[in-house]
Amino acid sequence: MRVIAVADYEEMSVLAAEMIEAKVRNQPDAVLGLATGGTPLGTYRHLVESAAARHLSFRRVKTVNLDEYVGIPASHPQSYHSYMKENVFDPLGILPENSHLPNGETLELTAECARYDKLIQELNSVDLQVLGIGQNGHIGFNEPGTPFNSSTHVVELTESTLRANAKYFKGEKQPVQAITMGIGTILKSKEILLLASGSSKKEAISALMSGIRDENVPATALVSHPSVTVIADSEALAVESKRV
Ligand code: F6R
Repeated sequence: MRVIAVADYEEMSVLAAEMIEAKVRNQPDAVLGLATGGTPLGTYRHLVESAAARHLSFRRVKTVNLDEYVGIPASHPQSYHSYMKENVFDPLGILPENSHLPNGETLELTAECARYDKLIQELNSVDLQVLGIGQNGHIGFNEPGTPFNSSTHVVELTESTLRANAKYFKGEKQPVQAITMGIGTILKSKEILLLASGSSKKEAISALMSGIRDENVPATALVSHPSVTVIADSEALAVESKRV
């Protein structure tokens, strides 16, 4: 695991965008695994600006998202479909037929999970998976206790995750379930880039850096993956900023 310590959110975002851009430049038909949430927003913003400035095409890029809420329509402003369309797909020109998220609207949830894993397999797995990290160490919506060999599945969101997400729903009734790529699915990615910013991620990052795999902290599954880069800012690392 390579850990890159940066000063702050901005530096994390610039560096992560550069890494994604380099991947697409080297492999124009790359399969990118993408996350939502607050953490990668700056990365996506820099990627959009840089791709426009340097005429980098995303027309052949394929994307698979980590997760989607169950029970809200794709058109809901807080759905991950909407987030991706607004922040990534439209501004980068990623084609609708090349961008994939779990379908949280279906009543056939088990079949949808199987479809999603099969899709990832058919894409020959993810070339570069971008991850955020939850305060409790979750990756995707894999909450503590999720087996490290899990495939795509439906989850009941924990209290801690519901609390952290409440800000996005502003008092509106929020979804209590999601479909998420499993930890086993995530581990099949060829390369993983985990981003962490802010002191609320300190404990989760410290558990990850301990190098001990522990199913109570889902992100520690990454310890066994051969190609993981963590970009974390000084608050998430709880250290004075310096590059290591
Ligand atoms: C989102 C996702 C989640 C987030 C995590 C951190 O697709 O998979 O695991 O990465 O909840 O969220 P933020 O970035 O909002 O702190």
